[in-house]
Amino acid sequence: MVKEIRVTLRNAGKIDPESIEDYIRAGGYLALAKAKKTEPEKLIDEIEHAGQLRGRGGAGFSTGYKWRGAYSTACDQKYVICNADEGEPGTFKDRTIIENDPHTILEGMLICAYAIGAREGFIYVRGEYGHCIELLKKAVADAEAKGLTDGVKIHVTSGAGSYVCGEETALLTSLEGKRGEPRLKPPFPTVAGYLGKPTVVNNVETFATVPVIVDKGAEWFRKIGDPSYPGTKVFCLSGDVKNKGVYELPTDATIDDLVNGFGGGVIDGHQVKAIQMGGGSCGFITAENMGLALNYDALRPAGVSLGSGAILVLDEEHNMAEFVRGTSHFFAHESCGKCAPCREGTSRLEEAMDAICEGRDVEKNIGLIQKLAQGMRMSCFCPLGQGAGNPILSALRLFPDDFRGKAPESAKEDA
Ligand SMILES: Cc1cc2nc3c(=O)[nH]c(=O)nc-3n(C[C@H](O)[C@H](O)[C@H](O)COP(=O)(O)O)c2cc1C
Ligand code: SF4
Repeated sequence: MVKEIRVTLRNAGKIDPESIEDYIRAGGYLALAKAKKTEPEKLIDEIEHAGQLRGRGGAGFSTGYKWRGAYSTACDQKYVICNADEGEPGTFKDRTIIENDPHTILEGMLICAYAIGAREGFIYVRGEYGHCIELLKKAVADAEAKGLTDGVKIHVTSGAGSYVCGEETALLTSLEGKRGEPRLKPPFPTVAGYLGKPTVVNNVETFATVPVIVDKGAEWFRKIGDPSYPGTKVFCLSGDVKNKGVYELPTDATIDDLVNGFGGGVIDGHQVKAIQMGGGSCGFITAENMGLALNYDALRPAGVSLGSGAILVLDEEHNMAEFVRGTSHFFAHESCGKCAPCREGTSRLEEAMDAICEGRDVEKNIGLIQKLAQGMRMSCFCPLGQGAGNPILSALRLFPDDFRGKAPESAKEDA
């Protein structure tokens, strides 16, 4: 079995997260000093060479490419933003990173600010993460007091609990003090982001990984994990598994390594029925795909993705129709209402799932969901609506009997 490799979580449990001295003793802020001796373009090259350090927030976009976009857009004011909204169901890794090592995120942001030429930044933290907000505020104040921020002003702000505000353009609108709704892309934030200025938005885990790459070099990082997606990924293992928690694994580790190895297998001697891969809008796999590695290329043939790193295990006692009924409630509640296909569509999906689970017009509602989900994928304004039908379609394909009332009597109700 593969070993847990701690790159992003290298200081977890080893330093006091409230102590900047502890972080510095562990080698903290050396990467920032090294970065500042490097030409910004060369620094961005290094991040790109680290297998493009694909963003760890869900979309997997190249961090180096993003930084280059903001760097090469001429403007007197640029911004760096850390997305710590962490609203994805089953995701709690950013919280773990912040609670254990807030300075590494700040250091990653300051390196980015130097690379792109930003003098101001924001950490947008999920409102419920009160302790994280305090830790980050202290980290910023302590770094400022030691002159480490070099005049770059980092603000710590909190979201008001909307899931869509984790989407980068909605986050920007929310930060600007407006109603948190996504905006059209292009222009991308690297060209016109916060207040219309070039802005880099990266996830907590992405920023926390940057100092290690700068310190140890892209070559070192590329040797870890799968070449198509080098390095490690921090996973959130939850559901019907013995050892739920946060695990940082190289990207060539398999789902089996995570669930049965680190996770200790399914509770009460039960079997895996389904695993939801990547978050609430993502699809499921069954036990036969547990040999797949935890990276984008390996998972693609099974029709699933890594997403935010949420891995939710469901045992055979679950009825999958009931489970995705719960998901449909979530999307109907979180739809921001900006566009009609999602505003109406998520409510219709919810109604259809309620009807199916109550045994009303089952075939008609299955047909409706199939058409609706397809239409929403093509017409919704942002990925929230586009993906709202995904988990239902995936469950329907893998477990049709659960939708047609033929599931075992003992099936658990999740809604
Ligand atoms: C509905 C929705 C919610 C999202 N929530 C988050 C979130 O909570 N945290 C996050 O980092 N990215 C989230 N994202 C992805 C961001 O839009 C963006 O891709 C990410 O912050 C970029 O950082 P990265 O390149 O480092 O991954 C969300 C996207 C969507 C569509
Ligand atoms: S798809 Fe949904 S969440 Fe996205 S803009 Fe439209 S209404 Fe808002």
